[in-house]
This record gives sequence, C-alpha cells and structure tokens, in this order.
Amino acid sequence: MQLVTEENITDLAVERWATAEDPRLAELMTALVRHLHDFAREVRLTEAEWMAAMQWLTHTGQISDEKREEFILASDVFGLSMLVVQMNHRLDPRATPATVLGPFHIEGSPELEYGADMSQGLPGTPLFISGVVKDLDGNAVPGALLDLWQADNEGLYESQHADVDEARLRAKYRTREDGTYCVRTVAPLGYTIPMDGPVGALISRTGISHYRPAHVHFLLNVPGYEPLITHLFQEGAEYLDSDVVFGTKAELVVPFEHREPGETPDGGTSAEPWLEARYDFVLQKQA
Ligand code: BEZ
Ligand code: FE
Repeated sequence: MQLVTEENITDLAVERWATAEDPRLAELMTALVRHLHDFAREVRLTEAEWMAAMQWLTHTGQISDEKREEFILASDVFGLSMLVVQMNHRLDPRATPATVLGPFHIEGSPELEYGADMSQGLPGTPLFISGVVKDLDGNAVPGALLDLWQADNEGLYESQHADVDEARLRAKYRTREDGTYCVRTVAPLGYTIPMDGPVGALISRTGISHYRPAHVHFLLNVPGYEPLITHLFQEGAEYLDSDVVFGTKAELVVPFEHREPGETPDGGTSAEPWLEARYDFVLQKQA
C-alpha cells in the first residue's frame, strides 16, 4: 500500500490520471493535476479559500443555461478564451485576425440583400459597413457569407432585454461577384458584460473595468478558407485598451467616419447624418 504524503500526492494523482485511455486526455489531465497542485502549494491554499472556490464554481454552473454561459464568460475574463483563439488561429499576418466568439451568436440569422438594413428601424445613428472579402493575394471572394451580430444603441443584445423575444440586430450578407459587401445598421454602443453572476461578483472585488468597446461581430465560414470569427471595433471608442475579454486587436479598429446627409454606399441616400466604416476582410486558404 502506498501511503499518501504532502510530498508524494502530486505524483500519485498524476500517475492515476495518466491511465486515461485516450493519450491526449492523459496529457491534458496529468498537466491539469500538476498545475492545480502547484497552484495550491504556491498560494498555500486554505480550506476556507478552497471551499469559496468550490461554491463559486457551483454557482457558475447553477446560473448557466442555454442562454447564459457563465463558465465561458469566466474563461473570457481570465483571458483564456482569447489565448486559445490566438494559439489556434496563427494566420498569415496579412489575414484578418480572429477574436473571441462571445455568448451572443445565434444560428439562423436572416440573409439580407446588399445594403439592406439589419436594424429594422431601431433607434440609433445609421452605420454603413462596406468593403471587399478577398484572399491573401488580393483576389475577390465572391459568394462569401458574412454573419453579423451586435448590441443596440443602449449596449444590449436582445436576450438582455426582458421585453424582447425576437432576434434583432443580426443578419447575413453575401458578397457580390466582385467580392463586395454592404451592411446597413445602427452604431453599436460599448457595453458591460453581465455583472449579476459569480463572474461579476469576482470582478467587483478588483479594479478591472467590466466593459467592452463598441463593436460589431462577424463570422465568415467560407468553404476552402480558414473560418474567421472576428469583430470590428469603432476607432476612438471607450474601453479599447481595457476590453474585459481581451478581444481587441489593432488591425480590427476602424474609423466610423461622420457623413452628412446624402448618398450612401448602398446607392441610396440618407436624410440624416450617418457613419461610414470601410473594411476589407482577408481570408487565408485552408492548408
Ligand atoms: C460579446 O462581445 O458579445 C461578448 C464576448 C465575451 C463575453 C461577453 C460578451
Ligand atoms: Fe459583443
């Protein structure tokens, strides 16, 4: 019989988890056990702190459902989600970089025509986003589907409005033969991540800003190309350098230029002042 001591418990636990049948699972679990034990030793974890951590994890599970992913939010604010994105999408520097998906993407958004309005009359400053989807050599990618979603001009997604049931401020646009796309929407506002759960409770005990800078999400899943999940951020927006989920990248910050009433990029006209963002998405071919 092997007696457990403070000195040998890590080796014993690692040995046990190394028996996982799948070698990758064995690698993951033995490293996890080793790092957890090292962590506990480094901070000399007390029993009260261990219990508080267990209760925090329990609460994180209890508050999660199909609409709320508190564990993913925790991963986001720890910088883990963005680290995993970066390690797994080491794209050519010419390609548009990837960022976190976030919890608000929904499958099945309606496909709209070039320049059609995805804000459906919601209040806000009209915003046109247009450009080209191309490959690393600058060739246009026709027929590429851009799946967009964003918060409204109060900084809220529909699931955060008690009185909104239907999907809104989300749509798909397909590039034309020359690779061009054109989106009409309203300017988003920066927003706070949900602070009424265990992640918020933890953040409230720190000096961490709980805001994200104003952005629009894009997902491009084009056959033959690396899938791209990214955002465009408004240049000059608040919180660009303190994004609570570490999602900002310099290449994704674009000016939202003020335009006077008149002709708009969809070929129409606007009777009110509007904002224009131009961005060319560069996709990398799949290896
Ligand atoms: C978002 O941008 O929608 C988001 C991303 C991560 C955490 C919370 C929100
Ligand atoms: Fe968002």
